[in-house]
Amino acid sequence: MEILSKYNTLLNQNLEQAVSQNEPAQLYDPIKYILSLGGKRIRPALTLMVCDFFGKDYKEALSAAMAVELFHNFSLIHDDIMDNAPLRRGKATVHEKWDVNTGILSGDAMLILAYRFFENYNPKTFQDLAKLFSETALQVCEGQQHDMDFETRDDVSLEEYINMIDHKTAVLVGAAMKMGAIVADASKSDMDKIYQFGRNLGIAFQLQDDYLDVFGNPETFGKQVGGDIIANKKTFLYLIAIEQSSKGQADELEHLYSINPKDPADKITTVKGIFVNSGAAKATQVEIEKYSNFAYSMLDEINISDEKREMLRQFGNSLMERNV
Ligand code: IPE
Ligand code: IPE
Ligand code: MG
Ligand code: MG
Ligand code: MG
Repeated sequence: MEILSKYNTLLNQNLEQAVSQNEPAQLYDPIKYILSLGGKRIRPALTLMVCDFFGKDYKEALSAAMAVELFHNFSLIHDDIMDNAPLRRGKATVHEKWDVNTGILSGDAMLILAYRFFENYNPKTFQDLAKLFSETALQVCEGQQHDMDFETRDDVSLEEYINMIDHKTAVLVGAAMKMGAIVADASKSDMDKIYQFGRNLGIAFQLQDDYLDVFGNPETFGKQVGGDIIANKKTFLYLIAIEQSSKGQADELEHLYSINPKDPADKITTVKGIFVNSGAAKATQVEIEKYSNFAYSMLDEINISDEKREMLRQFGNSLMERNV
């Protein structure tokens, strides 16, 4: 993403050296592997950008940014085990390339490596960062558990779904930004506003992720398209389709989300059709815009220049236009 490129340059130089240990290889190779696959690195770049925007040298936020990206990658390794996902960033997932046990322990080690980066700050900043990080990490676990529980539930409400994605995804986006504000020693009010900006953008981001999981281009998406349908994830697309389609079609959709066929190709095709015909695909786009606009409305009261405000808004727009 163009706006983030200067921050990504710094991150790329440092993330490669984030893990210096080599032995045991079975523990550290998967960590180096997942980091080498890159990804968009949105969260750590946001940490640096927010620190920069609040008037401090963004290099001072590097350790916090590294912690955020290591945590994110840890969560992806474990998420791919839980979602039984074969592909990540266009390559085999860690548990496919190695095995599940390796994914568990390498993920655990990454979480610990993430925490270590806070040791580079003075006691006050350390405490503020660690406190926010711990609260956020626990919320991510809660969101992930709800996500798994919803696979086998047939009475998930829209409110529960939004709350689930808020926890599994949005709080980390908000926290990544707030960490930049903490390092920059921004005012309490600015910290809260930038956090709410990130959190609402994070909800829009996960809605978009769920949309791309169904409608993304398999050549470029980097993950298995249709994975959420295979796993019977009760996404916004599904919940709206149930609400808006005919009784016959809603019954069919419910049935399809109660089975796990060996070859899921027909299931995916039928579900995709219902998502489009019921208007659920369109409704998801509208919902993405709604949360992006919530986010933008937080910007007005933040104490930064109009130029920087505009850059944050542009970043939000570019995020919603992504296809990976
Ligand atoms: C994937 O996050 C997990 C979600 C919260 C949707 P990203 O889409 O930021 O993944 P990478 O890091 O760019 O690969
Ligand atoms: C992931 O949600 C959220 C976390 C990793 C905590 P998803 O399961 O939708 O993420 P992807 O699509 O696998 O990246
Ligand atoms: Mg997943
Ligand atoms: Mg998941
Ligand atoms: Mg997804």
